[in-house]
Amino acid sequence: MSHLVQPIFAPTALDSLATESRRIALLADSDAPKTTAARRLDRLTRGALTRAMASETWIKTKPGEGIELAFPTGLQTEMLNLIRLPRRATQAQARKAGGVIGRSLVGTPGCLVVTETHPRAADVAFGLTLRAYEFAHHKTAEKKATGPVTLTAVAHHQTETAYAEMAAVAAGVHFTRDLVNEPANILTTYEFAHRLAALRDLGLDVEVLEEEQLQHLGMNLLLAVGQGSESPSKVVVMQWRGGAADAAPLAIVGKGVVFDTGGISMKPAGGMEEMTMDMGGAGVVAGLMRTLAQRKARANVVGLVGIVENMPDGRATRPGDVVASMKGDTVEIINTDAEGRLVLADVLWYAQERFKPAAVINLATLTGAIIVALGHENAGVFSNDDSFCSDFLRAAEAEGEGAWRMPMGQAYDDRLKSRIADMMNVGGREGGAITAAQFIKRFIKDGMPWIHLDIAGAALVKTDLPLSPKGATGWGVMALNRLIRDRYETH
Ligand code: BES
Ligand code: MN
Ligand code: ZN
Repeated sequence: MSHLVQPIFAPTALDSLATESRRIALLADSDAPKTTAARRLDRLTRGALTRAMASETWIKTKPGEGIELAFPTGLQTEMLNLIRLPRRATQAQARKAGGVIGRSLVGTPGCLVVTETHPRAADVAFGLTLRAYEFAHHKTAEKKATGPVTLTAVAHHQTETAYAEMAAVAAGVHFTRDLVNEPANILTTYEFAHRLAALRDLGLDVEVLEEEQLQHLGMNLLLAVGQGSESPSKVVVMQWRGGAADAAPLAIVGKGVVFDTGGISMKPAGGMEEMTMDMGGAGVVAGLMRTLAQRKARANVVGLVGIVENMPDGRATRPGDVVASMKGDTVEIINTDAEGRLVLADVLWYAQERFKPAAVINLATLTGAIIVALGHENAGVFSNDDSFCSDFLRAAEAEGEGAWRMPMGQAYDDRLKSRIADMMNVGGREGGAITAAQFIKRFIKDGMPWIHLDIAGAALVKTDLPLSPKGATGWGVMALNRLIRDRYETH
C-alpha cells in the first residue's frame, strides 16, 4: 500500500554517504555552516552552503521550512535541502522540518538527513515518515518506491528508541489513510472486515459480526442503511487489553460507510465520488487500534466499527420508513442520506451494553454542515463532559490536529421530534452538525462521558498539508493515541 520510509539512525560520520546520496537534507539554524557535518558539505560543494546561508532567502526562511540547492558541485546529490530548525525547536517545528524532507522524498529512493546535534531528531523522522506517504497503489506506470532514509544524530541510539513508539503512530496513520483513500469497489464491506481481521497478527482480538447476528441483536437502524447494498453489513469489534484486568475499557466507535450514495434520498452526481471516504471514522478507529497494539499500550481500549454501504435499490430503506433501534426507540427515517447517525446509534448502544465502558468516543464523517462551519482545518467536537472534552482538546492541540468544540442543547434536540415515531433522523438544514450530534446523544446512556467527533472536513483535504499529501489525512489517530497515553495508561 503506502510506502513507509524506514529511517535508519546513524552516528554523524558522513564519509561516502555524503558524496553518494541522491538527496541530502541539512537541518541548521545559523547564517554560516558551523557543525562538522555542515562544514564538510560546504568544503565538498566549494562554498555553496556558505553562500546559501548568507543569502536573503535563507534569512527569510522560517523554522520548519527550507530552501533547495539543485545538483550542487562536488556531490552526486540531485538536491541538497537546507532546512531551518532552531536549536530549541518545538515538536511542531521539528515535525514540519521532517515534513519538508518527506515531501521531497516521494519517488526518490534514498536520502541522507543530517541533524548533527539535534535533540528533536526523532520528531524530524516522524514528520518525514508522515509526509512521505503516498497512495500510488493503483498507478501502474509509476511504481514509486521510497527507499531507506539515513538520519544522523549524535545520540542516535536514544533517537532510535524515541522513534520506535512514533513509528507505531505513523503506521497507524498510514493504515487509516490507506483505508480512506481506497475506492469503494475495492474496499467493500468484505474487504474492510478482512483488513481489520488481519490486525490479529499484532495481538488484537478481532470479531466480525455478520448480518444474522446483527438482526439477532436488534441493530435494525444499521441494517436499514445497508439493506440496499449487495455487500452485507458488518460490525467489527477490536479489543486491546493492555491495562489492568479489572479496568473498564475506553470504547471508540466509528462510522464505516464504504460508500454513501445517499440511498433513495440520492446525492447529486457532482462530487459523489468523494463518498468513498465515508468510512473515515472507522478508518481512524482501525488506525488507532493498530497503533495501540504495535506500541503495546498499557490501557484497555475497544474499537467498534459499523461497516455498511448506502445504496439505492428495490429493497432499500424509503424516506418515511419507521425503524426500531437496538435501544428500542423508533426512528422515522425522513432522509436516507442521514445514514451515519443510524449506524452509530446501534453500534454505540451495543458498545455500552456489552462493554460497560468507562467512556465513549465516536468518530464519523457525519455532516456536510461541519465543513461549512469549520472547513477542513478543524473537526467538530461535541461532548456531554467538560473535563473529558478539555483533555481531548489538549491532546489534539499538542498533536497539531485541529479540533473545535461545538455547542449542544435542548432547543436543538427538540427539532428531532417526529409526528409518528420517537424521533426523526434529521433536524433541518440549519445547525445540521449540531442536530446530528443531538441525535447520537440520544443513544448515550445517562452519566456516560462521551465525545462525538464530526470529521467530515478533517478526514480528507484537497491541498497538501505539512505532514500529509492531499487526500486522506488520518486526522485523529495522533490525538486519540495521546489522550489514551495521558488519561488511561498505567505508567
Ligand atoms: N457522509 C455524509 C456527510 C459528508 C458530506 C461527509 C460531505 C463528507 C463530505 C452524510 O452521510 C450526509 O450525507 N449528511 C447529510 C445530512 C443531511 C441529509 C441531514 C448532509 O450533510 O448533507
Ligand atoms: Mn449520507
Ligand atoms: Zn454518510
